[in-house]
Amino acid sequence: MKLVIFGGGSSYTPELVNGVIESYEMLPFDEVCLADINAERLDILAGLSRRMVEHAGLPVRITATLDRRAALEGADFVNGLIRVGGMAARINDEKIPLKYGVAGQETTGPGGMMKALRTIPVMLALALDMVEVCPKAWLINYTNPSGIISEALGRYSDVRYIGLCSGPNTWSDQILELMGADPARANVEWVGLNHLGFATRVWVDGIDVTAQAVEAVADHWKIDGEWLRTLGVIPAPYLRYFFHHTAVVASLQEPGHLTRGEQVREIEGELLELYADPDTATRPDLLSRRGGRGYSDAAIAAMSAIRHNTGNRQILQVLNQGAIDGIPDGASVEIACVVDRAGSHPIRFGELPLAIRGLIQSVKTYESLTVQAAVEGSKRLALQALMAHPMVPSWEVAKPLLDDLLVANREWLPWVD
Ligand code: G6P
Repeated sequence: MKLVIFGGGSSYTPELVNGVIESYEMLPFDEVCLADINAERLDILAGLSRRMVEHAGLPVRITATLDRRAALEGADFVNGLIRVGGMAARINDEKIPLKYGVAGQETTGPGGMMKALRTIPVMLALALDMVEVCPKAWLINYTNPSGIISEALGRYSDVRYIGLCSGPNTWSDQILELMGADPARANVEWVGLNHLGFATRVWVDGIDVTAQAVEAVADHWKIDGEWLRTLGVIPAPYLRYFFHHTAVVASLQEPGHLTRGEQVREIEGELLELYADPDTATRPDLLSRRGGRGYSDAAIAAMSAIRHNTGNRQILQVLNQGAIDGIPDGASVEIACVVDRAGSHPIRFGELPLAIRGLIQSVKTYESLTVQAAVEGSKRLALQALMAHPMVPSWEVAKPLLDDLLVANREWLPWVD
């Protein structure tokens, strides 16, 4: 079995290699191939990955290449870990919207839209290569904004893919922990879009305890407790960018505030030094300062369900196909799926609670327009997308904001003049 890490020079690669080591019995990969465009980082991450598997005493061959198509030869699984434009582009995504009074964030709002516009063409090119070189392989994507990327892959490629995020599992676990509930006896219903998901019901021993769950998290969440009790369902913490937009913007605009990308740039610098150290042979603890801990668990769970045809339940991003009422069939949603050797199959959800329906539909509209804008290379569609986004208040903001963002991203968007 061969695993390709597309973006193998990522600082998250040791997280995934650690997952490969820990799940070796279940998924005995013979080869893990790191593919990247940055030779220096590739070298560092390949060196550390080799030391990690050696330290674990496992016969996993670590290979590295700058040639994407060569990497794909004989692949069974490909994991997407790329960041088009690197941290500099993320920092632009975070800073530019703030000038217009709109929150700047890696995946949410206008920043997330720019990340999507930069990333979709690269992921579709990878998908095309996979269809040609390793048509039976599965692309496991968690490159952000992963819900939008999933929709692009589902609508514009024939690749076999799974879209995922560690968030729903992490947040569901946090809810149960705050309730003091045993995860083995509990079930959390999750629905929405990526980074726009909601825990709509919680059961313990088959009894609906949603009201207790709301009460348990109300004063410990990144969303106001009174609003949470009013809403009656538990939003992913990313919903603060919508529900508390005014307060979030004010705090991001505070003098001296470092954006998350600026903080991550520092952490990455330290991480790469540690990774390059010949004495480092395990995943350093410092990596837990990044938000993506838990990604390898979700990726391994998906690959294992496919490999062993388990049919188990996982929260994934998948084309709706009638699962949620009022969302187009071809639009991606984040929802419980059955996963087996044919991929992910959404479990029917039905009607969304009215209190969150409109928000999900508006953001879905923005996401679908963004996918189209990326595929067609269209400024007009990008403007429609931004105007559909609930965080963008008006044309007076959308128009200059988009112009500013497009100029900053010209290098990645050949269609921008
Ligand atoms: C969470 C999100 C991920 C995101 C990560 C960012 O885990 O669910 O989608 O990639 O945070 O972490 P970072 O350390 O890059 O801010």
